[in-house]
Amino acid sequence: MSSVTIENVTKAFGSTVVLEKFDAVFENGEFITLLGPSGCGKTTMLRIVAGFEKPTAGTVRFDDRVVSSEKVFLPPEKRDIGMVFQSYAVWPHMTVYENVAYPLTIKKVDKAAIKQKVDRVLAAVHLSQYADRIPSQLSGGQQQRVALARALVAEPALLLLDEPLSNLDAKLRESMRFEIKEIQKEYGITVMYVTHDQTEAMAMSDRIVVINRGVIQQIGSPREIYTQPANPFVADFVGKIEFVEGIAKDGVIELNGCGQKLPYDGELKGEVIVGIRPEQITYAAEGEGELSGVVKTHFYLGDVDDCRIDLGGGAEVRVIADPFESRGVSAGKQVSLKVRNFHVFAKQEGEDFRKILT
Ligand SMILES: Nc1ncnc2c1ncn2[C@@H]1O[C@H](COP(=O)(O)OP(=O)(O)O)[C@@H](O)[C@H]1O
Ligand SMILES: [Mg+2]
Repeated sequence: MSSVTIENVTKAFGSTVVLEKFDAVFENGEFITLLGPSGCGKTTMLRIVAGFEKPTAGTVRFDDRVVSSEKVFLPPEKRDIGMVFQSYAVWPHMTVYENVAYPLTIKKVDKAAIKQKVDRVLAAVHLSQYADRIPSQLSGGQQQRVALARALVAEPALLLLDEPLSNLDAKLRESMRFEIKEIQKEYGITVMYVTHDQTEAMAMSDRIVVINRGVIQQIGSPREIYTQPANPFVADFVGKIEFVEGIAKDGVIELNGCGQKLPYDGELKGEVIVGIRPEQITYAAEGEGELSGVVKTHFYLGDVDDCRIDLGGGAEVRVIADPFESRGVSAGKQVSLKVRNFHVFAKQEGEDFRKILT
């Protein structure tokens, strides 16, 4: 096992800064996910940890060992890591067994030890019965598991996974999530996982690092990220949310445009951004909710009713409700809304926060 400390890491390609002052500590045995939109710097960070890129500034440590700094640079093969990329490659002319054994074969590990390790890892990825097949006789998901087994067989201290499931279909992706978690537990390794898929990040991670444009936005457990997002970007990227601007004063927030009020006893004053998730609102009997509006669009999706509600003056919220509770709701109707919870963010002077949303 290995902890990973990333200290003030900055990476620029020419004059383009793609990672800025990245600071994070990942504990032994933790499952950490780097989450953010395409191009935010996730792969670059993983490649720096792996030793395929040298940071422009900053330090990377595995436990107490410096692997990258101004003075030190350990090449990838000396870092004791396993890696799987989105475009995994398995050798087409080798059997599954030979593919997985390869990292040990080139290290000249003795045959009996190789067999023991390969058998164990093939069992962990549920491929024991396919050991003698060649990759073309396997499905995409099975090939992906071969790549995973090969990354694990040398029992690395740290496993780096860069969007390893994104080429698989939705069902397989979901079952592979569980398998990767199981394998992590069995091998007791630290995992750094990269994805742009928030559901994948939520399902698998002990902690998530949310990144935008090369800058860490928040580090926290899936629950912390979802229930206490640090800023509108995080709130928007993880889960669904609608924003309405307003003014906080005297125990309420008055929403811009519609003038409706939400009770508020928090610390912020003046211009704020209110974020409300669709599941934080329920329909109420007429006059009993905090907000009211007219249903603008109504989608019946079977398991839920998904509605956009016009609060007036350009302010809008979204309600996703159990169809049993939203019976009778349809486009054009006037509704009363109970707001169970919402998020409030300070508005930076002169900032158009919608520009940073994806
Ligand atoms: N070798 C490189 N040379 C120049 N720019 C690069 C290089 N590698 C990555 N970039 C740029 O760095 C940014 C972050 O890329 P990347 O880390 O691959 O993002 P992500 O994995 O989050 O999609 C992108 O704008 C990308 O074009
Ligand atoms: Mg990437």
